[in-house]
Amino acid sequence: MLDVAKLLLMPSKRSDVPPFIVMDVMAAAAALEAQGAHVLHLEVGQPAAPAPATALRAAKAALEHGRIGYTETLGIPSLRARIARHYADTYDLALDPARVVVTTGSSGGFILAFLALFEPGERVALANPGYPPYRHILTALGCEPVLIETSAETRWALSANALIAEHRKKPLAGLVVASPANPTGTMMDADALSRLIATAEDAGIRVISDEIYHGLDYAFRAVTAATLSPRALVINSFSKYFCMTGWRIGWMVVPEPLTRAVERLQGNLAISVPTLAQIAAEAAFDGRDEMEAVKHGYEENRRILTQGLPRAGLDKFLPVDGAFYLYADISKFSDDSLAFAKRMLDEAHVAATPGIDFDPVNGHNFLRFCYAGSAADIRAAVERIGAWLARR
Ligand SMILES: Cc1ncc(COP(=O)(O)O)c(C=O)c1O
Repeated sequence: MLDVAKLLLMPSKRSDVPPFIVMDVMAAAAALEAQGAHVLHLEVGQPAAPAPATALRAAKAALEHGRIGYTETLGIPSLRARIARHYADTYDLALDPARVVVTTGSSGGFILAFLALFEPGERVALANPGYPPYRHILTALGCEPVLIETSAETRWALSANALIAEHRKKPLAGLVVASPANPTGTMMDADALSRLIATAEDAGIRVISDEIYHGLDYAFRAVTAATLSPRALVINSFSKYFCMTGWRIGWMVVPEPLTRAVERLQGNLAISVPTLAQIAAEAAFDGRDEMEAVKHGYEENRRILTQGLPRAGLDKFLPVDGAFYLYADISKFSDDSLAFAKRMLDEAHVAATPGIDFDPVNGHNFLRFCYAGSAADIRAAVERIGAWLARR
């Protein structure tokens, strides 16, 4: 009887995905703060600024006018049209609003995209290091994430050659690319991205492009996969450039023949995306000047960090092209990024994310710093890290 009761409470095997370690770092930082410590937060990848004032005003007005009901499953038509216009304005691409699907953050987009594109057991290539939920969501859905090592020669992006080498070992059904990428902040230039997409598609590998950090590019302009192939599925979000993490709102650009499948999935899984967030998101596009000012703040933070960290002792890091991350090699101090991050938090009160969150192979040698906070905090963090490393 006892055993049966236990079985009833056992989680499924597919739910056995690793936790997102950055959340554990946040919890440890919060515990220190509860004891009165002043912790500098460079761990979690979210902007310190609020959503654009235009978005906040639109949401307040909507609340005052009463009913917040369901919307069309694929999103409010005027928001889908506004997103399509964004592609014309930003990338000079005429996009049919019928291809735009509004999602619950890009996280909601991944579930829909993976379900719409892949069968259980199919293999999907990911660059290593990379954003951990790609592999964990794929695993939970019964697909096989295939990590492919990257190197400095490809700016830590997946190369066409590496992809094909893996495909020859055992066929791949899909590929997720991200530029700018998390945790590295590196970007692929138009040629590299175009070569990778063409190679993948020629081999029958479906491409998903995570463009959540578009708009936050400093080294050169990011190109959308939507301009490179009508068959690529693009995922984006209001979380980063538009500072709307908690609103949980994003979008996809879906190849036209797949839109009905995505609509059926979203209709069943979620009915529709939160209405208030959709209203705010549409108005967010009118707040671009405010968001450009926020972006300039990141550029200043990037300068402080790329100049300050080497003086503090961390002088080996990957190119810092876009997003708001710097991925630093800590191997001259430690080969255990989890322990190193813990000590840095406990002793210097600076929170950063251990590389093992992003890279199960070499992540023990890296720390990710997020520079989406205030310049004063980034400056203070560099000072504290320098003093702490000098004491060790
Ligand atoms: C690369 C990347 N993709 C997707 C997400 C998910 O963002 P959201 O669901 O808030 O759109 C994140 C969040 O940090 C990310 O770094």
